[in-house]
Amino acid sequence: MLSQQTMDIIKSTVPVLEVHGLAITKTFYKNLFEAHPELLNIFNHTNQSKGRQQGALANTVYAAAVHIENLDAILPVVHQIGQKHRSLGILPEHYPIVGQFLLAAIKEVLGDAATEEILGAWGEAYGVIADAFIQTEEGLYKEAEEKEGGYRGFKPFKVTKVVTENELVKSFYLVPADGAALPSYQAGQYVSVQVSIPGHPYTHNRQYSLSQAYNGQEYRISIKAEKQATPQGVVSNYLHANLKEGDEIMVSVPAGDFVYNTANGTPVTFLAAGIGATPLLAMYQTAVKENDAKVKFIHSASHIPLHPFERELLGIAFPSKNATYVPVTTAATGHIDQDFLAKHVDTTGEVYLCGPVGFMEAMITNLVAIGMPKENIHFEFFGPAMAL
Ligand SMILES: Cc1cc2nc3c(=O)[nH]c(=O)nc-3n(C[C@H](O)[C@H](O)[C@H](O)COP(=O)(O)OP(=O)(O)OC[C@H]3O[C@@H](n4cnc5c(N)ncnc54)[C@H](O)[C@@H]3O)c2cc1C
Ligand code: HEM
Repeated sequence: MLSQQTMDIIKSTVPVLEVHGLAITKTFYKNLFEAHPELLNIFNHTNQSKGRQQGALANTVYAAAVHIENLDAILPVVHQIGQKHRSLGILPEHYPIVGQFLLAAIKEVLGDAATEEILGAWGEAYGVIADAFIQTEEGLYKEAEEKEGGYRGFKPFKVTKVVTENELVKSFYLVPADGAALPSYQAGQYVSVQVSIPGHPYTHNRQYSLSQAYNGQEYRISIKAEKQATPQGVVSNYLHANLKEGDEIMVSVPAGDFVYNTANGTPVTFLAAGIGATPLLAMYQTAVKENDAKVKFIHSASHIPLHPFERELLGIAFPSKNATYVPVTTAATGHIDQDFLAKHVDTTGEVYLCGPVGFMEAMITNLVAIGMPKENIHFEFFGPAMAL
């Protein structure tokens, strides 16, 4: 437990953090990677260069400071971040390194304003926050290891099939290369993959949602080649060009808190844009099996050929009494708006959302406007969550 004096000091620095949080975390990462370049094997370099990860860490440190007297309030966030940390293999011994560089960055940015008293208080508080993460993550490591076929860290999976879903999306089917059982997962979860690219000094880690419900046989990930913006996506394009049937790829046990968790009898709508369909597809398969209420999958894409999984989604809806698939082609009909949502979404039920940030912000605003309670809207963003 922190002393009242320490908590008072932490609370008094919240306004300063609000202003300098981002500068502190940017300084922190720069110095951290200079001293520990091996950590570049774990961090997503793109999230770094776009400043997204710095924002995520700054937001979390800020949230921890605001709630320092009641850290239980941020435990759900710790759990969610812990899932990502566990899937990437973050270990207790990494925490003191991060703590050391975080305190040094506070000192560097705040200068004389960072008195010994303030640094001491933050050192103590970091210790408490880090312990919460370490404990949560140890629980998640145990859970991953103790399930049938479970393990710690990454292990090789063999590609058994590659399917081209459309001009930008390929699905890769994966089985454990050692022939062990396939660890189970909940619909909506993702795996982290670790990729070594010839000529690149550090490994790249990325998350990919499991795009089908657990079947005990194989994982399926579906990857969009990020080639529409400059620079082109490093890992997605590399895997599209190089990962073939018979190859191996390093994969960690499925992780993530964005899972299908709706009681039977509650109507559910899945709202996806583009490649955001992947976690929702696994959830849709599950919901159609488990839920007698109405289940609807709305998939927005810019053009008709860009609707991946169309046949599969139709195939799920076709034999079912309660399932509907609604494709939306924005080039023809414009973006999904409030009127569309009012017509298609049962606001007494639950909604699961996944897509680009702009899409999700618009959907959440419009859903709330048509009377959907915020707590019934669940979403995932394909990037550092706290940055959203
Ligand atoms: C939980 C989760 C689940 C996910 N599930 C899926 C999934 O099912 N399918 C899927 O395809 N993806 C998924 N993703 C996204 C995936 O992890 C990768 O982020 C994605 O494949 C892009 O990686 P990349 O290496 O190809 O692109 P990156 O090299 O990381 O680049 C990504 C984008 O950033 C831009 N960029 C790169 N550098 C800069 C810079 N310096 N400044 C500005 N812009 C820059 C690029 O132009 C590109 O558009 C998921 C992500 C998360 C967090
Ligand atoms: C108390 C200390 C820490 C806090 C508050 C923290 C916070 C965060 C947050 C908010 C995210 C984004 C989660 C998301 O994607 O939704 C994240 C991701 C991550 N963290 Fe931490 N973290 C801490 C410690 C560490 C440590 C010790 C390491 C290892 C050196 C680490 C490595 C990572 C990595 C590699 C990611 C994924 C980054 C990416 O893909 O860009 N973190 N962390």
